[in-house]
Amino acid sequence: MQKFVIAPSILAADLARLGAEVGTVLDAGAGFVHVDIMDNHYVPNLSFGPSVVRALRGSGVSAPMDVHLMVDPVDRIIPDFAEAGASYLTVHPAASRHLDRTLRLIRELGCRPGLALNPAEPVSGLEYVLPQVDLLLLMSVNPGFGGQSFIPEIVAKAQVARRLLDQYAPHARLEVDGGVCADNIASLASAGVDTFVVGTALFGQADRKEAMAVLLGKLG
Ligand code: DX5
Ligand code: ZN
Repeated sequence: MQKFVIAPSILAADLARLGAEVGTVLDAGAGFVHVDIMDNHYVPNLSFGPSVVRALRGSGVSAPMDVHLMVDPVDRIIPDFAEAGASYLTVHPAASRHLDRTLRLIRELGCRPGLALNPAEPVSGLEYVLPQVDLLLLMSVNPGFGGQSFIPEIVAKAQVARRLLDQYAPHARLEVDGGVCADNIASLASAGVDTFVVGTALFGQADRKEAMAVLLGKLG
C-alpha cells in the first residue's frame, strides 16, 4: 500500500488564478495535481490541453501531474502530454483500440501509465493488463463534470480493486475520482484507496488550507 496522496482536481480551481490556486493546495499538503482533460467527445465537456500542463511546469510546479485523459481516441495525444511534463497519464479502456499497446506507449515516453474505470465498468478481466499500470483510477462519478454526487457503491468496488492490485500490481496506486469529500474519504481509505482526487470539496471552499487539513485529518 502506497502512502496517502490527495490530488486536487484543477477543474474546480479558479482558472483565472490557476498558478496561485495550485501553489496553495500544494503548500497545504497536496501530493499530486490532478488535471482533467476532456474532449467533448468521450465526455460531454471540454476542458484543457497539453498547454496547461506545460504552463504549470513552467511556473515551477514540480509535483507529479496526474493527467486524466477523458479523450477518445487517446493514442494520438499521449506524446503531447508526455512532452508537456505529465507524470501519470491515465486512459479509459474504451478510448484505446489496443489497451496494452497504449499503456506500453505511455511508459516508453517516460510517464507512468494509469487505467481509469467508469462506475459501471468492472475491475474483473484486467488481470493481463494490471501489471502494466502504476495507477488504477476508479471513477466515483460518471465522467465529464466536477461537483457531482459520490456513488457509494464504489467503496465496495475499491475493496475488490485493492485485492486485484495486491495480486497483479502491488506497486500500483489505487485512486478514486469524483465526489470525494470529508464524509467519504475515510471509508475509501479503509477500503484500500491511497490516492484521492478532490475538486469541489477543496477548491469550492473559501479556505483551501483548512479544507485540506480536514481531509488529511480524516486519513490519520
Ligand atoms: C470528473 C473528473 C473528476 C472531477 C472531480 O470527470 O474526472 O476529477 O473533476 O471533481 P469533484 O471532486 O468536484 O467531483
Ligand atoms: Zn479526473
